[in-house]
Amino acid sequence: KMKHLIAPSILSADFANLQRDIEMINESQADWFHVDVMDGVFVPNISFGFPVITAAKKNAKKPFDVHLMIVDPDRYIAEFAKAGADVITVHYEACTHLHRTIQLIKSVGCKAGVALNPHTPVSLLKDVLQDIDLALVMSVNPGFGGQQFIPQTLNKISELKQMALQANPNLYIEVDGGVGINNIGSLIEAGANVFVAGNAVFAAPSPTQMIADLKNVQVN
Ligand code: DX5
Ligand code: ZN
Repeated sequence: KMKHLIAPSILSADFANLQRDIEMINESQADWFHVDVMDGVFVPNISFGFPVITAAKKNAKKPFDVHLMIVDPDRYIAEFAKAGADVITVHYEACTHLHRTIQLIKSVGCKAGVALNPHTPVSLLKDVLQDIDLALVMSVNPGFGGQQFIPQTLNKISELKQMALQANPNLYIEVDGGVGINNIGSLIEAGANVFVAGNAVFAAPSPTQMIADLKNVQVN
């Protein structure tokens, strides 16, 4: 069984000290950088774009897990790959031709992910599950760090895990929003194996120690 991965979200980093926070993640037990891109249309917030990602990538020593909270993502897939994305995740709700978008992500050499808002059922992934590398279950309404975890997410993860056992046993099942030391154990038990953590890491007295604590949680 695969050890779970920790993906600190740089949305919660100090952008006035981004290099310092990138080095902290480099030297920690984190597995991926989680990179939240918001366009002010798909979500009611705007985060950052290509110049910031390109600059961050220069000194980052771990894969970039890019979460696109943008409408019509096809327009920018190639450019995100060029900026350094290793995984590109698009929202189910933002893609009219999701299958095509998934193929486009793979054609630029990235792993392909699909994210679901809290109200979107996991059953809607059934006919693309074999085609994707990652499914991201949003456990808050996307747009902001530091929100409270929505408990119904646990059922969604269990259901997705069952679907994946049949269709795609190597699927990464990622949870994003309100993840911390108090709920990561139950999320692992439900079947998730990639954990985004923004506030939990960056508001901790020692972010490095919090990453280690999240990484070293064990369940039977
Ligand atoms: C929310 C973003 C998350 C966010 C998570 O829209 O997709 O990745 O950074 O932050 P926390 O862990 O603080 O909920
Ligand atoms: Zn995210």
